[in-house]
Amino acid sequence: NGKYTVTLIPGDGIGPEISQAVKEIYSAASVPIEWEEVSVAPILKGGKTVIPDVAINSVKKNTVALKGPLATPIGKGHVSLNLTLRRTFNLFANVRPCVSIQGFKTPYDDVNTVLIRENTEGEYSGIEHEVVDGVVQSIKLITWDASERVARYAFQYAKSSGRARVTAVHKANIMKMSDGMFLSACRQVAKEFPDVSYDEDLLDRVCLQIVQNPKPYADRVMVMPNLYGDILSDMCAGLIGGLGLTPSGNIGRDASIFEAVHGSAPDIAGKGLANPTALLLSSLMMLRHMKLDNYATKIEKAALSTIAEGKTITGDLGGKASTQEYTAAIIERLAKA
Ligand code: IPM
Ligand code: MN
Repeated sequence: NGKYTVTLIPGDGIGPEISQAVKEIYSAASVPIEWEEVSVAPILKGGKTVIPDVAINSVKKNTVALKGPLATPIGKGHVSLNLTLRRTFNLFANVRPCVSIQGFKTPYDDVNTVLIRENTEGEYSGIEHEVVDGVVQSIKLITWDASERVARYAFQYAKSSGRARVTAVHKANIMKMSDGMFLSACRQVAKEFPDVSYDEDLLDRVCLQIVQNPKPYADRVMVMPNLYGDILSDMCAGLIGGLGLTPSGNIGRDASIFEAVHGSAPDIAGKGLANPTALLLSSLMMLRHMKLDNYATKIEKAALSTIAEGKTITGDLGGKASTQEYTAAIIERLAKA
């Protein structure tokens, strides 16, 4: 029927409401996508908690998925399902664009950077143990192969998106071996891309500089180990209006999963207060990944102009609209376009 099938993982908390908003906007825009909705709620299998095969097979088959937030236990309990998905499909690059929405007032109006986070290892390797009572070790694992792979992805991304520079963000002054090797891999890959300039900057320095003046960071791609990307991407999201506005894509060779960076917000779940923008913008990254750019552009215009106008926006953005009203406002603009 000429339609693409995409896996939809609505997720926990506000996940179902914001997924519903995206579905409504997509049908209003006649996007040629059929959603295959699956749950990744873990099940017990052979004494281990695992993601149901139905969900895994759906992502494998469709190779693209849109995913809502999944609650992650703190301190104890199962490995975050978010991480399990990234690991299962070897989604090695986490792409997090952070771009100011023109017309939407924040203290910064010229943020335009793309963070690319190594997505399979680092402090997220999950290798931890107690050495002796009162002493624990959590291993930060850095491999040449994963560093080189994400570095190459960052340069390719810069080149194809017309960004002039790649900056490797690190703490190799302290993590001399692990971050040192990450940088060596970046330097080696940089040689393959003579038309993209390359430099390196310390993570703490980048944090300081970018909150003082984000302009010098525009038009570049920043690539970094996993945990640094986790933290820096939330900080950059803060510059443009919060996690309700920032999309992300987890990219692998065989599959890619697009997801909002924010959590499941259980406190407001089911109340119609959630902002679906981050999931919507993530889905637009997905459309572009699928070469459905026309639809992405059209929906993006409708959403961003609704936010810029500021009349029908959700509470987190300073408005009074419900999820439903905001969604309807976007759909109305789509119809007028
Ligand atoms: C993110 C999230 C996840 C992470 C959590 C939910 C496991 O914060 O995608 O940034 O730490 O990577
Ligand atoms: Mn995070």
